[in-house]
Amino acid sequence: MEPALIFRRLFVAIVIFAVALPANATDHIVGDNHGWNPGINYTLWAGNHTFFVGDLISFRYQRNQYNVYMVNKTGYDNCTLEGALGNWSSGKDFIELNESKRYYFICGNGLCFGGMKVTVFVAELPTSPPPSHYNNHTSGAQSILRQFASTVPGILAGIFTGIWI
Ligand SMILES: *[C@@H]1O[C@H](CO)[C@@H](O)[C@H](O)[C@H]1NC(C)=O
Ligand SMILES: *[C@@H]1O[C@H](CO)[C@@H](O)[C@H](O)[C@H]1NC(C)=O
Ligand SMILES: *[C@@H]1O[C@H](CO)[C@@H](O)[C@H](O)[C@H]1NC(C)=O
Ligand SMILES: *[C@@H]1O[C@H](CO)[C@@H](O)[C@H](O)[C@H]1NC(C)=O
Ligand SMILES: *[C@@H]1O[C@H](CO)[C@@H](O)[C@H](O)[C@H]1NC(C)=O
Ligand SMILES: *[C@@H]1O[C@H](CO)[C@@H](O)[C@H](O)[C@H]1NC(C)=O
Ligand SMILES: *[C@@H]1O[C@H](CO)[C@@H](O)[C@H](O)[C@H]1NC(C)=O
Repeated sequence: MEPALIFRRLFVAIVIFAVALPANATDHIVGDNHGWNPGINYTLWAGNHTFFVGDLISFRYQRNQYNVYMVNKTGYDNCTLEGALGNWSSGKDFIELNESKRYYFICGNGLCFGGMKVTVFVAELPTSPPPSHYNNHTSGAQSILRQFASTVPGILAGIFTGIWI
């Protein structure tokens, strides 16, 4: 295979890769460089961020000193852990925001009362098309392209078997 041809196919592969993959998920570090600690207004922090399905929220804190509980609204309002939906304590916890809904996180060792609580609303990805407004041909083709291009082996196979050019 000629080098020029390889470069052309590589270019096409990169373009398809960039177009077909969803935008990178954002990691929202709670409290930014202040982390997960007492005395921080996390309402202000949350107001400065926009959360989409698939994003991560991450808590950075002194391990063994604090922790993170995912609770419901009652737990958030009252700083209680009943019916907690999850808990983390590694000191560097990454939590995937899988659903479009309001999430509630609190510190489980009493410091919730001191303000170690944060709630975020996670919105649907703006690029996810409402299915009813799209014809099936377009979305079908997009989904096949996405599936194919989202595997690096698929890309490499495409370059070297030359199916695109
Ligand atoms: C955080 O800041 C908001 C907006 O200034 C304010 O309404 C809220 O009371 C503050 N929360 C705390 C716990 O200080
Ligand atoms: C919100 O973001 C703006 C712009 O980056 C910044 O100036 C401001 O300090 C931020 N506020 C908080 C509470 O993080
Ligand atoms: C939780 O707090 C609310 C007020 O924010 C109160 O009305 C309610 O009774 C409390 N629930 C429990 C279970 O303590
Ligand atoms: C939160 O969970 C507790 C315990 O399961 C439950 O009693 C409470 O009603 C729930 N609150 C909400 C708002 O769902
Ligand atoms: C914390 O999470 C573990 C599993 O990850 C669970 O077994 C445990 O019951 C949870 N603790 C509370 C208080 O929810
Ligand atoms: C989000 O989804 C992943 C994989 O589907 C799962 O491992 C993870 O536990 C989920 N996270 C939450 C907070 O539900
Ligand atoms: C798209 O496919 C669904 C079933 O998969 C069908 O119900 C719907 O009528 C189709 N829409 C169009 C515009 O062909």
